[in-house]
Amino acid sequence: MNILAIESSCDETSASVVSNGTKVKSVIISSQTDIHAKFFGVVPELASRAHIKNINPVIAKALEEAGISFGNFDKKIDAIAFTSGPGLAGALLVGAVAAKTLASVLKKPLIPVNHLEGHLYSSFIENKSVKPPFLGMIISGGHTELIIVEDFGKYKFLGGTRDDAAGEAFDKAAKMLGLSYPGGPIIDKRAEKGNDKAVNFTRPYLKGSWDFSFSGIKTALLNYLKANPVKNEKHLNDICASFRAAVAETLCFKAFEAAKEFDLKRISMGGGVCANSLIRKMFYQEGKKNKIKVYIPSMLYCTDNAAMIGCAAYLKQKTSGLKYTRAQLKSVPSLRLESW
Ligand code: KG4
Ligand code: ZN
Repeated sequence: MNILAIESSCDETSASVVSNGTKVKSVIISSQTDIHAKFFGVVPELASRAHIKNINPVIAKALEEAGISFGNFDKKIDAIAFTSGPGLAGALLVGAVAAKTLASVLKKPLIPVNHLEGHLYSSFIENKSVKPPFLGMIISGGHTELIIVEDFGKYKFLGGTRDDAAGEAFDKAAKMLGLSYPGGPIIDKRAEKGNDKAVNFTRPYLKGSWDFSFSGIKTALLNYLKANPVKNEKHLNDICASFRAAVAETLCFKAFEAAKEFDLKRISMGGGVCANSLIRKMFYQEGKKNKIKVYIPSMLYCTDNAAMIGCAAYLKQKTSGLKYTRAQLKSVPSLRLESW
């Protein structure tokens, strides 16, 4: 089954043609980082406008790279998937309208996909051995969630962040340090050259709960910087390394505690923060030590992309079929993860 998938929930306009859930024939991503960088965060209205400008060229390029034209679309595409939520209202609407227009003109079924399900199943694209049950960990600019995936589309939500998402914490820390946006990759790069023992940030383990909280580390960084302004490059790298270690150890500790508690032998991760080099290393090492298989997508599929939406859509229609109600096809900015 060939699916044309569209993702536009935040600041990436993306389209992809995915065959049988895992064979990615094309994936085009147009990032808006440059537009939002000067504001140190995504500006919803600017995101919507950029999606409007980019959506048609992105879809056209994804189709072209997959060898599809409007002449052979009918034969080559079986369904159109789009991110129905959660995300920015205006941004979601642009992808939804594009998907619905194509589906209506070309008479194809639509598959609405929850963005979090895209991240949850993103590791499936490159790994044949990952399958439920597993512990899903989503760590991105907007989310930090621990979810038990009991089966395809059958979820048990364990916990999420009480304040900042992991990526948001990196982005805000970078701003405090005078670095640019998005801060996660910049802190990561500097941390590689720094000493992670230089500053002792308390790890917010929140024992007894599966929730996360990163506002404390952020405040600790602010207080540290007030008392110890950045002296030089080495000092800056040391602070980055110490901050990154605190976030990585917290995420890793909680994920493995949950996997052991619920006797899950697989952890599958998704979201932009999975691109972090220490987080990748730590999770793989801890996985080996605990005999828990860890699946992390390659960089391309960590951050927002439409291939993961195509993958999740394929899995979803296998369980739920191809008929969705009008309500299910609506864009819902606060869409919650619910069992299929
Ligand atoms: O999944 P994503 O592209 O968008 C959302 O759905 O939010 O994630 C973007 C987030 C940003 O906060 C960015 O700083 C973070 O992922 N990020 C990283 C790294 N690369 C991206 N955080 C830490 N280390 C990285 N290498
Ligand atoms: Zn995302």
